[in-house]
Amino acid sequence: MSVRHFLTLLDCSAGELAGLVRRAIEMKTAMKAAGAAGPSIAKNKVLAMIFEKSSTRTRVSFEAGMAQLGGQAIFLSPADTQIGRGEPVADSARVISSMVDLIMVRTYAHRDLEEFAAHSAVPVINALTDEFHPCQLLADMQTFAEERGGIAGKAVAWVGDGNNMCNSYINAACQWDFELRIACPRGFAPNAELLAANSGRVRLGHSPAEAVAGASLVVTDTWASMGKEAEKAARIEAFAGFQVDLELMARAAADAIFLHCLPACRGREVSAELLEDGRYSRVFAAAENRLHAQKALIEFLLG
Ligand code: CP
Ligand code: NVA
Repeated sequence: MSVRHFLTLLDCSAGELAGLVRRAIEMKTAMKAAGAAGPSIAKNKVLAMIFEKSSTRTRVSFEAGMAQLGGQAIFLSPADTQIGRGEPVADSARVISSMVDLIMVRTYAHRDLEEFAAHSAVPVINALTDEFHPCQLLADMQTFAEERGGIAGKAVAWVGDGNNMCNSYINAACQWDFELRIACPRGFAPNAELLAANSGRVRLGHSPAEAVAGASLVVTDTWASMGKEAEKAARIEAFAGFQVDLELMARAAADAIFLHCLPACRGREVSAELLEDGRYSRVFAAAENRLHAQKALIEFLLG
């Protein structure tokens, strides 16, 4: 039997994704009510966490999630492993997957993740690549479901960089059946193939005001993702006029919410006022939901 991986949202059916969100909400509710850690579905199971980029939320949520499910997590950074000294991806995958039950990888090139998964004997989870960040979408979709119910048929606005989060929102538009309106500066569009494949649901433009008009969810992210640090100054200039603030949110639907995967740079892609505004901002609720959504994902992949 082939191994089940979670490299993008397209590795699950729409029904499975809806099930993951339902299960995440169920696990969260049970945990809050009973103070209990949850079912010991990962007892004696080990998750290897390979981080080639920095992380706060992803590391803490996976590590805490495994502990709460009765399992263990091992943090592997390139500074301490042979991966960092150039051991081939395929060899690393074969060796690590012979010793653990699940592997989570945060890296640069998405094809390195695909190569790793192709040689892994156990499920591999994408914990962010330059191209996609599907775990964050599970948390974002859980947050919208909790706050506003079904997202199918609603309009979602992505304002800013056509980055890994934006690409994952395109996949989400397909899987959760919503309309995605992207507003990014010229030269910062998301993956062209992905856009073309989803042209029925996704619209690319360059006006934040147009994208946000009447939207039920407004999302942005940093203007300089990990790996793009050298372009930061040029990007700040190129993204002028793309800040999401209270004035822009006022154009969205009356009950619209605002999400940002964090870390955020106040005063750049988002205003400090919006990030803290209880009428709109659910960014910290979504950050917490990384824990619950990934516990549901761990349960799903461990079968
Ligand atoms: N949103 C997110 O993935 O955060 P970290 O980089 O802190 O893991
Ligand atoms: N787009 C950002 C997300 C960080 C969680 C990055 O890749 O750095």
